Amino acid sequence: MTTTIPQQPTPADAAAGGTLLQARGVIMRFGGLTAVRNVDLTVNSGEIVGLIGPNGAGKTTFFNCLTGLYVPTEGTVSYRGTVLPPKPHLVTKAGIARTFQNIRLFANMTVLENVLVGRHTRTREGLFSAIVRGPGFHKAERASRERAMELLAFTGLADKAEHLARNLPYGEQRKLEIARALASEPGLLLLDEPTAGMNPQETRATEELVFAIRDQGIAVLVIEHDMRFIFNLCDRVAVLVQGEKLVEGTSEVVQNDERVIAAYLGEPFEGAPADEDGTPAATADDASTTSEQENDR
Ligand SMILES: Nc1ncnc2c1ncn2[C@@H]1O[C@H](COP(=O)(O)OP(=O)(O)OP(=O)(O)O)[C@@H](O)[C@H]1O
Ligand SMILES: [Mg+2]
Repeated sequence: MTTTIPQQPTPADAAAGGTLLQARGVIMRFGGLTAVRNVDLTVNSGEIVGLIGPNGAGKTTFFNCLTGLYVPTEGTVSYRGTVLPPKPHLVTKAGIARTFQNIRLFANMTVLENVLVGRHTRTREGLFSAIVRGPGFHKAERASRERAMELLAFTGLADKAEHLARNLPYGEQRKLEIARALASEPGLLLLDEPTAGMNPQETRATEELVFAIRDQGIAVLVIEHDMRFIFNLCDRVAVLVQGEKLVEGTSEVVQNDERVIAAYLGEPFEGAPADEDGTPAATADDASTTSEQENDR
């Protein structure tokens, strides 16, 4: 299969767009266990950045620190130059949205309703308006539904709008999580293993979706064990091992770094059969399995 790699912004483009996320010296300890050790990470406007590493390396914990689910033991997380308070709803309001490694949808709500829930941080109508249900409320509700339907079309779920979320196949539930995250109109989207459990076709479609999201002006930070997905997609990749950032660089630099090969990839990518365009065909989970069944604390 030939994989086309869309035009990507150069680091200079990204710098021109400015820094969105800046994590500095993030440490997360759980009792005697240090899950994240002094990690710095920057995401610039226009970038797709990958975060990889073996199971238990601290990737999800780091996402939880970025999004206010955990209060880091030490360190700061800033978005557009302002330090974020460690409260999930304030982080979402500031402009960061995320999906979860273990899908978190409202199973008994429709697909459309799930996306509407994701819009609540962006709707100005308050409780009073919702109770009174005046013209302002109805107008806002209509606009929200229109935007939600747009997002369902964008993620390829428009024809499933009235289905219950729990009846969607697994791959579509992952897409719905992305649609719901986009509903908060983020400037930065964090994806935790967006292709876990997907077949190769769904994975390729998700790759295209992430490029399309970036093309809409939303930067992306993505955790994934599928190395082909990561190296095709990312402008920059950071590698976490035992809570520490081992290496950070372009896909090319990271996939050829001997420390990364030893600690995670297991074998050099050159060993894998290449596509016609020279892209190594090896997929992920060489050295590490996805942790679908594990708890996403
Ligand atoms: N709430 C918690 N309490 C105690 N330990 C935790 C907690 N959350 C995470 N950990 C521990 O922190 C370490 C990092 O876990 P984390 O889930 O962040 O890894 P990960 O890199 O996302 O792994 P995977 O690729 O398997 O999803 C693990 O040892 C895990 O057991
Ligand atoms: Mg994880």
